[in-house]
Amino acid sequence: MRIERLELDGFRNYDRQALTFDAACNVIYGENAQGKTNLLEAIVLLSCGKSPRAHSDKELIGFQRDGAKIIGGVYARERDFHMEITLNRGKRRKMSVNGVPAKSNAALSDVLHTVFFAPEDLFLIRDGAAARRKFMDISLCQLRPRYASALAEYHRLYEHKTRILRDSEECPQLLAMLPDFNMRLCEVGAVLIHYRARFCRALQEYAAQAHLECSGGREELTLAYQTVKTVENPFAPHAELVSALTEHQNSHYQAEIASKLCLSGPHKDDVEVTINGRSARQFCSQGQVRTAALSLKLAEREIHKNAIGEYPVMLLDDVLSELDPKRQEYVLNRISGGQVFITCCENDRLDALLQGKVFHIHNGEVL
Ligand SMILES: Nc1ncnc2c1ncn2[C@@H]1O[C@H](COP(=O)(O)OP(=O)(O)O)[C@@H](O)[C@H]1O
Ligand SMILES: [Mg+2]
Repeated sequence: MRIERLELDGFRNYDRQALTFDAACNVIYGENAQGKTNLLEAIVLLSCGKSPRAHSDKELIGFQRDGAKIIGGVYARERDFHMEITLNRGKRRKMSVNGVPAKSNAALSDVLHTVFFAPEDLFLIRDGAAARRKFMDISLCQLRPRYASALAEYHRLYEHKTRILRDSEECPQLLAMLPDFNMRLCEVGAVLIHYRARFCRALQEYAAQAHLECSGGREELTLAYQTVKTVENPFAPHAELVSALTEHQNSHYQAEIASKLCLSGPHKDDVEVTINGRSARQFCSQGQVRTAALSLKLAEREIHKNAIGEYPVMLLDDVLSELDPKRQEYVLNRISGGQVFITCCENDRLDALLQGKVFHIHNGEVL
């Protein structure tokens, strides 16, 4: 799978730009704040409809523009695809694949998969649970359309329930709606747990291997999926998961009303990471944390390859220069086989280390 062409029009700091890429390696270099990450962001957007850093379409549209267009020419499953995303200020975005309107992000993920690795991800291990949930969510949304729709519904229900709890003091009759919401949240929550448990199991397998190799055989990495306490076996059948979630929900009913917060459900899930038996979050050195984050990303790439039979497009944003030469070399050896995009600063001279097509970005333009 590879992205062959990209056209940007009014996207972030790009006015009009058409690019063609190398099938193997593309090095994007330039000074700070020129548009290197923006370029990778556009590719991520084409693969899943979501930006790794923007929360709304507005942020993605050029400051002086009313709308933006991103067009991608993608080769996947031995076929060519033409993908388009049109963003509008104050209107819903439009997406299409081969001219057919896409109803959801799943239509994009059906064609293009990306694994995006940015400096923030080096803290994936150290940060709070939200960072690791986001990691699972972004990956699973690309891999499993059913997960993506369950997650979207869970978010909707969660927001609505939060409003009910918040407004219940002034309007106690709102609480009559709560049981329906709770039931639905348990149903949808069980779907999330089903997929997350399997994702973590696969992640553990590949990440442990990568970490062992990268640490010269000295460190054992383990990952453990952590979800709602009453769920003893996250691989249990759906009905069993629903009943475990319901049990937890029921025991928190009063506490939720009192605190006006959703206290029960997989929106607090986490992945516990340990290195040689110790919590990586609490006890690991910077170097170990970096290796672990790197291992998770490389594992993510393998999971996608396994699921779809092709390597996803790997996007490395400014991370190589943050790694020591030994780890740089490890990454570069490990990622061959699929298409890769690497951004770096002008003075990193990573382009000398890498082969492929080189793009020099200056002020939203390729020189
Ligand atoms: N919506 C937008 N419209 C125009 N410019 C934008 C928009 N969002 C970000 N930018 C500009 O993009 C630049 C940052 O681009 P980025 O790709 O993050 O840089 P880098 O090359 O360091 O990765 C900044 O100059 C910022 O002002
Ligand atoms: Mg950047």
